[in-house]
Amino acid sequence: MDKKKNMEMVGAVYELVSGFTRTKALNAAASLNIAQHIGENEKKSVNDIAKEIGANSQSLYRLMRALTHMKCFREEDVDEHQQHDQQQHGIFSHTPLSLALRQPEVRNIALMRGGYGQTQGWQNLVETIKTGQSDVNKTLGYPDYWAFLEEHTDEAAIFNNSLASVTNMLTPTLVSLGDYTKFETVVDLGGGLGKLLKGVLKQNANIKNGINFDIPSVIEKNQHEVDVDPRYKDQAGDFFVEVPAADCYVLKSILHDWSDAKCLEIFKTISKSIKPGGKVYVYDYINSLYTKNEKNFTPWNDLHMMVMLNGKERNEWDWQYLAEHSGFKIESVKRPEGQGFAPPLTIFTKQ
Ligand SMILES: C[S@@+](CC[C@H](N)C(=O)[O-])C[C@H]1O[C@@H](n2cnc3c(N)ncnc32)[C@H](O)[C@@H]1O
Repeated sequence: MDKKKNMEMVGAVYELVSGFTRTKALNAAASLNIAQHIGENEKKSVNDIAKEIGANSQSLYRLMRALTHMKCFREEDVDEHQQHDQQQHGIFSHTPLSLALRQPEVRNIALMRGGYGQTQGWQNLVETIKTGQSDVNKTLGYPDYWAFLEEHTDEAAIFNNSLASVTNMLTPTLVSLGDYTKFETVVDLGGGLGKLLKGVLKQNANIKNGINFDIPSVIEKNQHEVDVDPRYKDQAGDFFVEVPAADCYVLKSILHDWSDAKCLEIFKTISKSIKPGGKVYVYDYINSLYTKNEKNFTPWNDLHMMVMLNGKERNEWDWQYLAEHSGFKIESVKRPEGQGFAPPLTIFTKQ
């Protein structure tokens, strides 16, 4: 490599290895609600923003200047004559990216990904690569991430809201992928705040019961609008122990949280309760068989699942393995149109 190219690569590597600083800067911007304090078409001084959010204006300026570097917020240009006038500096407006940060869904993701649990969980990546096991029992000091969330209620609220707001955004697409017209009872296993199940019920008058099933600490905190569908019910439980009888089980972003052995245990509990002819609707990504064909962020999600949960994003062979060893078969795969980030639907039925 010639010297010039080498210098360029050193710069590129330096920028890439500083990725965590971007995660943390976005997390701080979300925590401080900066994006919400600038109107959509407003130009606002950092001093005014600092006053409103109770921050040090110099530190806030430095944070925002770094964020503008990655096209999150824009610092207004200063004309030649005003360049040496300090008052003229530090006027910020929105970019498409900072506007996105105003949406609760996006803000919640920044809060979750850059928060303590998910960043601390990555501290021993090297160990995980060596052992093939998540190290969160050491990095977080809990047997697994779920146990950590049980005791860290603030982080649990952020996690649940983050998942719920993204699921809420994807619900119309997810519901349209499945045929729910022949089911009486639909159970959403690990349904979190129940957004997807409510969407399913709304579109399918034929369903008599909708059960949103999750661990007690999530179910206890679930709050619903006053006019919640009377067919909707929350139920606390453990999908490794027993699940309610149903003719459709929905699992969205669940199996990717678990190892193959654990997924097979979940299928085993379902198998005991599923009604004849029942179906299992799995909404999870399908990794490309060949890395070079991967267009989405699934390899990064896969790594995150490995580090945090001993889980994985599966490819076709992995899904086939689960089917073959669980006594189920893959009936069909429905892929959403376009390149959005809604996961496909894989439908399992009993062999
Ligand atoms: C990644 S979240 C997915 C939430 C929801 N399905 C969504 O996509 O928005 C995983 C969910 O599984 C739940 N969960 C974890 N272990 C569980 C268990 N043993 N039994 C039931 N739910 C469980 C968690 O509380 C959490 O709500």
